[in-house]
Amino acid sequence: MKKVLIINGANLNLLGVREPEIYGDKSLDEIIAMLQKEFPLCIIDEKRSNIEGEIIEAVQMADNLFDGVVINAGAYTHTSVGIRDAIAAVRVPVIEVHISNVASREFFRSKSLLSSVCKGTISGFGIQSYKLAVYSLLNM
Ligand code: DQA
Repeated sequence: MKKVLIINGANLNLLGVREPEIYGDKSLDEIIAMLQKEFPLCIIDEKRSNIEGEIIEAVQMADNLFDGVVINAGAYTHTSVGIRDAIAAVRVPVIEVHISNVASREFFRSKSLLSSVCKGTISGFGIQSYKLAVYSLLNM
């Protein structure tokens, strides 16, 4: 049975109440439950944190324990060399996801420091972005 870690960074703990016109009305708990239901033959675990260093540690730890990682780093996507370097350091495949289409929003969101070290990026499909990422990991 494959094990996938879903990592959510800055402000994603507020999903459901945070700017619902952009990020939808589903909470992070509901999204994780949706993934568990959608992929019953896969062990889905999750780490959520607003703290950059905790996200770095989650990526490092995942290397030995998981078959794949899905990461939505939130605003750290655009700022964190540390998370980028952690992803580059591990062998476990990492897929970057965004709920919104970051390329079509403010200029500062158009650059991701993570994309070049991830297997791929899924952006703009609402909470389905997470589902597409897990599906891709399982079929890699
Ligand atoms: C986000 C996009 C980021 O630019 C933003 O800072 C977020 C959420 C998304 O899922 O669309 O917090 O990663």
